[in-house]
Amino acid sequence: MWSYVWLPLVLTVIMAKDSLIMAEATDSPAKILLPSQAGVDNSRSSVCSVPNPNLNYKPVIGILSHPGDGASGRLNNDTNASYIAASYLKLAEAGGARVIPLIYNEPEELLFKKLRLVNGVIFTGGWAKEGLYYEIVKKIFSKVLEKNDAGEHFPLYAICLGFELLTMIISQNTDILEKVDAKNSASSLQFVENVNIKGTIFQRFPPELLEKLSTDCLVMQNHQYGISPGSFEGNIALSNFFNIVTTCIDGHSKAYVSTVQSKNYPVTGFQWHPEKNAFEWGSSEIPHSEDAIQVTQLAANYLVSEARKSLNRPESEKVLSNLIYNYKPTYCGYAGRGYDEVYIFTQQRSLL
Ligand SMILES: *[C@@H]1O[C@H](CO)[C@@H](O)[C@H](O)[C@H]1NC(C)=O
Ligand SMILES: *[C@@H]1O[C@H](CO)[C@@H](O)[C@H](O)[C@H]1NC(C)=O
Repeated sequence: MWSYVWLPLVLTVIMAKDSLIMAEATDSPAKILLPSQAGVDNSRSSVCSVPNPNLNYKPVIGILSHPGDGASGRLNNDTNASYIAASYLKLAEAGGARVIPLIYNEPEELLFKKLRLVNGVIFTGGWAKEGLYYEIVKKIFSKVLEKNDAGEHFPLYAICLGFELLTMIISQNTDILEKVDAKNSASSLQFVENVNIKGTIFQRFPPELLEKLSTDCLVMQNHQYGISPGSFEGNIALSNFFNIVTTCIDGHSKAYVSTVQSKNYPVTGFQWHPEKNAFEWGSSEIPHSEDAIQVTQLAANYLVSEARKSLNRPESEKVLSNLIYNYKPTYCGYAGRGYDEVYIFTQQRSLL
């Protein structure tokens, strides 16, 4: 039924239902089952639910590293250095997954072996839009589509630069991005009229939070490029691949696409930063209210709930020897700006 109901109606219905539940809860504390009511006593213990055989309860997320040290050379000037800001892996962990770093400049064969150990991927923010990094993003993206086409549910979160790169790759136009004034600022998200949020990151957001998202500054922006809804819809490849879910307004009152959901694949693009609210402290603009933290948590939950649908169950030992736990993060928040923690990769480390 829900799939046929558009957002405004869904909101009204859910809100009505919610206030009902709240009223009931205040009136009747008996909503909490006592042991006798739950059928649990000294002789019988609780019955744990049977795991769903169609779900993978040990999902692993691959995160692609980005060139540099994430701190403009303050930490490492090695020309081969690449990094992952720890906030992206904390996002995956917050949803109940572990992380394997996919080091963009390691031998391709190794990188694609690691891709077989994961159940979903994150493309992070950053600046690299050409060269090896671009080529690897393109290859991983086509692998993600291939896996899904072959029946293996395999989600992808493309965040900020990650989304910009998908825009370039799908449109086959490296000049499609436009200048946008959205550096280091928090914003609301404007839902597209009549959008159906089922099957998007927003599907399990509480209605009050959805409402606040469109009025309050609950998401962090930090980008100089973007794409207007007009250019996006005007490109057949992009509009065939993605539905626009939200837009934002930049510092010059110009609208840009801010959340997209693929029509046929578990691929979500973000021109905002779901990982920063809970895990980055280097800018006073980052929202840290309880609502903002919930946005991070719900974004984490959605990614990992999609990854649990991936039935790829690789050899446990191979997973263990490639997990991010084999690496040490570096704290770089002393400077009071930039990322708080980064993982820096300067040499291959793999037991594959
Ligand atoms: C990297 O190079 C810059 C410029 O030469 C220098 O200021 C910085 O200290 C170097 N960083 C490290 C970690 O050596
Ligand atoms: C960087 O990587 C290339 C290719 O793997 C290698 O030839 C080169 O020695 C590396 N440079 C450093 C400084 O490690």
